Amino acid sequence: MHKFQKSALYRIASRSLRLPLALVIGGLALSGCRMGATDAATRGQEVFETCVPCHNSDGSGNAAVGAPNIAGMKAWYVEREVDKFRAGVRGMHFNDVEGMRMRPMVLSLASEEDVKAVAHYVETLPPVPHGSSFPGDPKAGAALYATCGACHGDTGAGNQDLGAPRIAGVDDWYLATELRKFRSGVRGTNPKDREGRLMRPMARTLANEDAIRNVVAYVETLKP
Ligand code: HEC
Ligand code: HEC
Repeated sequence: MHKFQKSALYRIASRSLRLPLALVIGGLALSGCRMGATDAATRGQEVFETCVPCHNSDGSGNAAVGAPNIAGMKAWYVEREVDKFRAGVRGMHFNDVEGMRMRPMVLSLASEEDVKAVAHYVETLPPVPHGSSFPGDPKAGAALYATCGACHGDTGAGNQDLGAPRIAGVDDWYLATELRKFRSGVRGTNPKDREGRLMRPMARTLANEDAIRNVVAYVETLKP
């Protein structure tokens, strides 16, 4: 067969293929858009199965592996942090033992839609309160908290506009761990971590381990 004939045939063949292919691609895109609220909720629950080994089926976490209690955590914050882990903006520091546990898990999520779905599912989980796991002086902590309230709110409820999460009702051991990470630069130093970089200087106002324990002891007295 002549070269010319071959390419002419190819052109005809590819032209006739183009339309069906376009239909298939269009159809896929449409079916994605059509995913209704119920589908998203079911999907969120399905995706959450991958979180259960560490965060527990009720989302209450597991201190032994450093996995925080995420039950009832706001979807906007879950989504943002999961995206940070996925992008390597969080959980990449060589000293971030827990972050490195978390990151590979969310890397396996297939799509941004799955991230959104699981974040919404986490928000629907009823909060599971835990008691204090270490002593501290909440009175001394109250004075230190004066700075924190500007972003996290007087009641520790968080402020989405400022990107500051709820910290009231969060386990004390986890709050203390994260404050240590911000102070040492294990968290909040990545140039792309806008919110972490906002938080890091705040954690550095806490002079020492006592200050961390005391401010956390105060946060534990706040009602979420
Ligand atoms: C292998 C254990 C493991 C699995 C599985 C896992 N995580 Fe985590 N996750 C962790 C650990 C450990 C941390 C704490 C990281 C740190 O200390 O910075 C964490 C942190 C988080 C945080 C940050 C909370 C905060 O207050 O900043 C969110 C949100 C989260 N996980 C959601 C999820 C979701 C959603 C899934 C499932 C798609 C999941 N995790 C799967 C171990 C895990
Ligand atoms: C200028 C605003 C601002 C102030 C003031 C501030 N924070 Fe934050 N804080 C943030 C932001 C934003 C984040 C979210 C960081 C991220 O996305 O990684 C955060 C995160 C945290 C976290 C991690 C929560 C989690 O779920 O992982 C803790 C703990 C915390 N702050 C405690 C404090 C304490 C204690 C103080 C006072 C000493 C304080 N913050 C003052 C803005 C602030």
